[in-house]
Amino acid sequence: MPRTDGYDLWLSYEPIDTEYSKKYASLIKQVQVAESGDISDVIANELELALNKLLGTYYPIHKVKSFSDTPGTVIAATLDTLIDETGCSIPVDLMPKDDGYALFTAHSSIYITAISEKGVLYGTFAFLRLLQTGKPIENLRISSSPAVRYRMLDHWDNLDGSIERGYAGKSIWKWNDLPSRIDSRYKDYARACASVGINAAVLNNVNTQPYILHEDYLEKAAALASVLRRYGISVFLSVNFASPMILGGLGTADPCNPAVIQWWKEKIAEIYSYIPDFGGFLMKADSEGQPGPYAYGRNHADGANMLGMVLAPYGGIVIWRAFIYGFGENDRAKKPYAEFAPLDGSFMPNTCVQVKNGACDFQPCEPVHPLFGAMEKTNLFLELQITQEYLGQGNHLVYLAPMWKEVLDFDIAADGTNVGQRISRKKSIPLGEHTVDGMTGMAAVSNIGADKNWCGSLFHPVNWYAFGRLAWDYSLSSEEIAREWAVCTWGNDETLLNGIMYILMNSWKACVDYMTPLGLHHIMKYDHHYGPDPACDEGDREDWKPRYYHRADKEGLGFDRTAKGSNGVAQYRKPLEELFSNVETCPEKYLLWFHHVGWDKVLSSGRTLKDELAYRYNLGVEEADKLRAAWVAVREHVPLEQYEAVLEKLDIQCKDAREWRDVCVPYFLSFTEEC
Ligand code: GCU
Repeated sequence: MPRTDGYDLWLSYEPIDTEYSKKYASLIKQVQVAESGDISDVIANELELALNKLLGTYYPIHKVKSFSDTPGTVIAATLDTLIDETGCSIPVDLMPKDDGYALFTAHSSIYITAISEKGVLYGTFAFLRLLQTGKPIENLRISSSPAVRYRMLDHWDNLDGSIERGYAGKSIWKWNDLPSRIDSRYKDYARACASVGINAAVLNNVNTQPYILHEDYLEKAAALASVLRRYGISVFLSVNFASPMILGGLGTADPCNPAVIQWWKEKIAEIYSYIPDFGGFLMKADSEGQPGPYAYGRNHADGANMLGMVLAPYGGIVIWRAFIYGFGENDRAKKPYAEFAPLDGSFMPNTCVQVKNGACDFQPCEPVHPLFGAMEKTNLFLELQITQEYLGQGNHLVYLAPMWKEVLDFDIAADGTNVGQRISRKKSIPLGEHTVDGMTGMAAVSNIGADKNWCGSLFHPVNWYAFGRLAWDYSLSSEEIAREWAVCTWGNDETLLNGIMYILMNSWKACVDYMTPLGLHHIMKYDHHYGPDPACDEGDREDWKPRYYHRADKEGLGFDRTAKGSNGVAQYRKPLEELFSNVETCPEKYLLWFHHVGWDKVLSSGRTLKDELAYRYNLGVEEADKLRAAWVAVREHVPLEQYEAVLEKLDIQCKDAREWRDVCVPYFLSFTEEC
């Protein structure tokens, strides 16, 4: 059961009472952690806290240089130390890679080991998760390595403490207090991230304030880095492309100008003097008003490579976002592919292109971004959004793993290669005197804020948790992840768990049905994107207006992206292109994304589009009501305060689902009356 305020997240380590719990105590007699650096302190502290709370027995944690061979010892150490000190070596088939770990039993002791200390930390959390979720720990033989090297949270946090698309209060970074005052929350944040394998954090918003690169802010970022480092997290910054002009007083930011390159060289040397293990830059360029290389007749690769070249000697990387649009194109969703695909092969090895999961913008249901089927010679990072900008924000309970899994499992190359494989393909590429190893990554826009419960409700942390788990291992199912989170957070009352699982596993479908069924998209209210407004005409740009996307008229509904329309569909490889182009084979969930469909067209249900639309919106309302009912049914199993806090959100969700239906159905059907 979570603490009422939700602060402990999935790490409350409530005493366990499972079929295995008695056995645990008999298998764990003492714990020894190899004495080395800061991370080993973290490992020892975590084991002490967790075992004492979970098993209710005091285990002194010994930090040792040499290990005892007493049966029942849990030994946490890197592989080198293990071999040197115990002579015990890992079974060959359990050898982890990168920052992966192995958990195995030998000589009646349990070994938590890895190549790096970070790996031992991840192994420690994995071991504790076995106990939290009531799994057997006899004869352990587990090996697990991360799917991608960079598992990153992108904070869209501004330096004034506000958060773009943040729904859980102010930023957790207290820039005014840094570097002298270190909030204890930084450590707790880092610990939660590390527990699910997250190893990188971009501290500030992609719409960045250039002064993040001022000396005083670098000192503040360095103070944060010193806390996060102990949990294996490296710090990145979003930077403004025009910084050499804004901060350096130069007359240009042209990436080919020697004075500009020199300015970046000096700035990057300064950053590394503050943060020796600095990760690199995240760049939003030539997008939504942010400056970029276009002003100088340069392309995105020119911009990325200049920074890549300067960061390379330090081991830093450049994450260059593909989220661009707004240059008079006939279909906004086509822009990233149109600009980036021709640049394939021209990006440096320590740069990557970060691509949102869909071609438009984090919609409730969006076809996979076609760039994942292109750019074979470029490192591609996947960008997800944990914060629910378009999915009911801090109010709607929507478990996002099923949506992310659909992206990761999508056969994008139409040859059996799914997006997960595409982004996790590791290469070692020589770069001057250096080698860039496995530039693979997944990033997600964080939903974390200064609210006591971190994410705005007791349920929203599930998506933070799920992101970390999937970035580590995208083959996990969304059910497995949901159950893990639920047990670790809420305990193992089966009735409660069943209720929570029902809610989690049905929430995304409900949201799509009551918001944007059948491939509708971007019909949210102007600017803040909460609630429906398909008729909205506000905004300076046509491609910010819902009508641009739904294109309702007396003939029908939907954006024609076939060859008769924008031909956006041609950005997918065959046979996907053919699948999506044909109105008969296009999956119905993407129907109105790719097609302008006649109102009387009969869909697979036997209903016409007109009737199906009304049916889906009504279904969404019913599904939202069922989520609420599932919570009401577990009332006796949850402390009142938590029960009411969750119910309050579900009430809003049910009310909002009705608003979506009551706005969208009459609005869309009014076009059919014009016939
Ligand atoms: C969306 C979002 C913006 C954000 C942008 C981005 O458009 O509404 O707030 O800045 O995505 O990803 O850069």
